[in-house]
Amino acid sequence: MPAAKDEVYSTRSLTLARRTQPFQESVIREMTRLGDEAGSVNLSQGLPDFDSPPEVIAAALDAIRSGDNQYTFPFGEPNFRNAIAEKSARYNHIPADPETEVTVTCGVSEAIMSTILALTDPGDEVIILEPWYENYVPDCRMAGAVPRFVSMHEPDYTFDPQELRAAFNNRTRLIMINTPHNPTGRVLTHSELDVIASLCLEHGVVAVTDEIYEHIQYDGRKHISIGSLDGMRDRTVTISGLGKSYAVTGWRVGWAVAAEPLTALIRKVHDYLTVCAPAPFQAAGIVALNLPESYYQDMRAQYVTRRTVLLNALDESGMLYRQPEGAYYVMADIANLRWDHAKYTQPEWTFDRAFAEYIARDIGVAVVPGSSFYSRKESGTTRVRFNFAKHMSTMESAAKRLKCLVKA
Ligand SMILES: Cc1ncc(COP(=O)(O)O)c(C=O)c1O
Repeated sequence: MPAAKDEVYSTRSLTLARRTQPFQESVIREMTRLGDEAGSVNLSQGLPDFDSPPEVIAAALDAIRSGDNQYTFPFGEPNFRNAIAEKSARYNHIPADPETEVTVTCGVSEAIMSTILALTDPGDEVIILEPWYENYVPDCRMAGAVPRFVSMHEPDYTFDPQELRAAFNNRTRLIMINTPHNPTGRVLTHSELDVIASLCLEHGVVAVTDEIYEHIQYDGRKHISIGSLDGMRDRTVTISGLGKSYAVTGWRVGWAVAAEPLTALIRKVHDYLTVCAPAPFQAAGIVALNLPESYYQDMRAQYVTRRTVLLNALDESGMLYRQPEGAYYVMADIANLRWDHAKYTQPEWTFDRAFAEYIARDIGVAVVPGSSFYSRKESGTTRVRFNFAKHMSTMESAAKRLKCLVKA
């Protein structure tokens, strides 16, 4: 029966889902907003402010003009998957069949979410080395998986093999690895990866390795993919993407390489989550993955120069840090700086969050509070993360501003 025109209904209040309650909005993205609002130099979110190589940009424009604008095959455009498989064999030493073992995703973020959803059931445990890139924990929570943290101990950010062993149990399904590491700049060594691999083999656990910074390491260090170690090919999901290596974080193209039985599950999630990654940027990705070795050498050399500018500025301001071995971040110690804490703090803020407010508004540099990379918010509260994926002029302007920091 249709309601009478002037009939009055009572409205029932909404019941909101609890799924997102255990986590907050991304602090990193919030810091970028704070930085923009304060007019500061953005050394917070890890996005380059320089362009991708012209041939990569041209390939994307050509693809759009030539009509490459519709859905691709859900698991990725075949030639792009071929290029990823070729790179995986050559650079990561992991042979992969592009037909059945490569999935192209909307960024590394989606590859990680799809993998966790595909390879865990609610209540399963996922080991996460702490500090961690901030998506891992919300991803686990959204999947109903339980994160179990193992510390990478300061000052060297190394894990204790006994503590890692103790974290494995019969509910453990995955261990999340990230090398080179955000936020600490660690590059995991062969022996550290061996420890992780042997525990994965012993306990029937899959290693999910986020290698988005695989081409950025310093001082002669080499990138090692855990999936290339003995016995690990079939129990590793190796994830990377275009964003950081080719300065195209807004293109949202990533991939997951994994043995067929794992890929089959990941593809099901990916298909329903996003259907496919952007078509023209996959076309451009083929050009990116075929850039000569000199591109990577040049990129690393430029990062070394940017790192020097930042570290010199931190030295001058009296901040302590561990020199990054890879990626483009530094966790710096803010404990011995003098600043007006009372002026900036708010009741719910940790010390580092208040410092982030101060440094953005008074010094003019946006950073990320260290505690946002930890499960226990009392950890990391004397640290902030700087990123140096910036044009030299941006780095120099940040360095000039950082000179205004005062030692305690
Ligand atoms: C370790 C790590 N993984 C994943 C991402 C996100 O990757 P994407 O932009 O490809 O989703 C980032 C971005 O900063 C990162 O640092």
